[in-house]
Amino acid sequence: MKKFTKNVVVLNIILILLFSITGCADNSSGKKVATQSPVKSNDQMLALTPPMGWNSWNPFGENVSEQVIKETADTMAGSGLKDVGFTYIVIDDIWQGGRDSSTGLLYPDPKRFPSGIKALADYVHEKGLKFGIYSDAGTMTCGDRPGSFGYEEKDAKLFAEWGVDYLKYDYCYCTDYASTNNDYKMAIERYRKMGNALKATGRPIVYSICEWGPRSPWLWGKEVGGHLWRTSYDVYDFWDKPRNEISPIGIQTSMDVAASLERFAGPGGWNDPDMLVVGLKNTGNIKGGGCNEIEYRTQMSMWCMLAAPLMIGCDIRKMDETTKAILMNKDIIDIDQDALGKQGFRVYRKDGLEAFKKPLSNQRVAIAFLNRNSTDKKITISYLDLELDPVVNYFVYDVWKHTAINLPKGTLSADLKSHECRVFVLSVVEK
Ligand code: GLA
Repeated sequence: MKKFTKNVVVLNIILILLFSITGCADNSSGKKVATQSPVKSNDQMLALTPPMGWNSWNPFGENVSEQVIKETADTMAGSGLKDVGFTYIVIDDIWQGGRDSSTGLLYPDPKRFPSGIKALADYVHEKGLKFGIYSDAGTMTCGDRPGSFGYEEKDAKLFAEWGVDYLKYDYCYCTDYASTNNDYKMAIERYRKMGNALKATGRPIVYSICEWGPRSPWLWGKEVGGHLWRTSYDVYDFWDKPRNEISPIGIQTSMDVAASLERFAGPGGWNDPDMLVVGLKNTGNIKGGGCNEIEYRTQMSMWCMLAAPLMIGCDIRKMDETTKAILMNKDIIDIDQDALGKQGFRVYRKDGLEAFKKPLSNQRVAIAFLNRNSTDKKITISYLDLELDPVVNYFVYDVWKHTAINLPKGTLSADLKSHECRVFVLSVVEK
């Protein structure tokens, strides 16, 4: 290569490097032109693992207030929840006081949020946490407060100015078009509109699509800028209510919808089977009779196996030791947050007993056994049935007992109480 050509090549490499670092290039008039899309900061780098946090709806509903949010942030930061990865504090519906008729700006309920949302977001940020808020793609929210329809840019800008890091965007008061197809189209358009408005603010904001599943948001959620999308209706504080037609549903139904959608989840976009009911114990806003400790543990286990967002839905200021042990089990959280970003899937189902498998980083795999029966059962499954290599030696770790277990090679087995889920991480033993 001639020296001149070599120099040109070197110069080009330097320019390319500069260009990719600054995102700017000189145009012929000598002015800097933005070459990276301004939407970059809200891209899917934001939710490389499923978001973790707390949401006000399940425990407080319309009684959410700045006092509650501040005390929740204090608890999140001080109780160990933040240390295991819980980050977002999200105010759900009914924070709004209204929309100012002259400015068109949303404002919070002055009685419950006297200091305003910006001050509250600052408080949450000072604790090293992130702050989320709620709105709706229709004219009104599900709690009959002003929705963002027609005000998408204005609201997104306001949220960004307030310091919002996460927006849950609901789908009440969105009148259907004449046909089902158009209803689909309308949802995509409305969610894209807010997705674009959020991106245009330049602030990284996790975008949580809450359309409940009827228009298959797992097919278009990422495309419109979403980082998570609800796959089913609202999970209330009970184990089961079979049909996913309208809220409320139980843990089991919600899990079953998400369990068949593994191909749509991955870094940057997650199936969202709704918030955790763990620790509610039939208190708060979504009472349903309550679950027992085993069922709450099963929800945590299955949500982690399904790489679901982990949004706590109980009053963490009043958590008892059992609830803490469920929510702060780092071993199960590590399965949810695994860097590989694969959602688990069902590999076995017979007589009310099921096995799920979630590939993990470093050639490990999580296996969960679930007993749906109302009686205790024992499950024994061969590695072949679990789609594992039968000749490989695995080290088996029980993530709830926090101990290694010894089993004959080629088989996994476990005793399961009614509705219990037991979870194991298998790693290959080097020969
Ligand atoms: C819908 C959502 C819930 C909650 C309420 C608030 O039902 O699915 O998660 O946000 O609205 O009104």
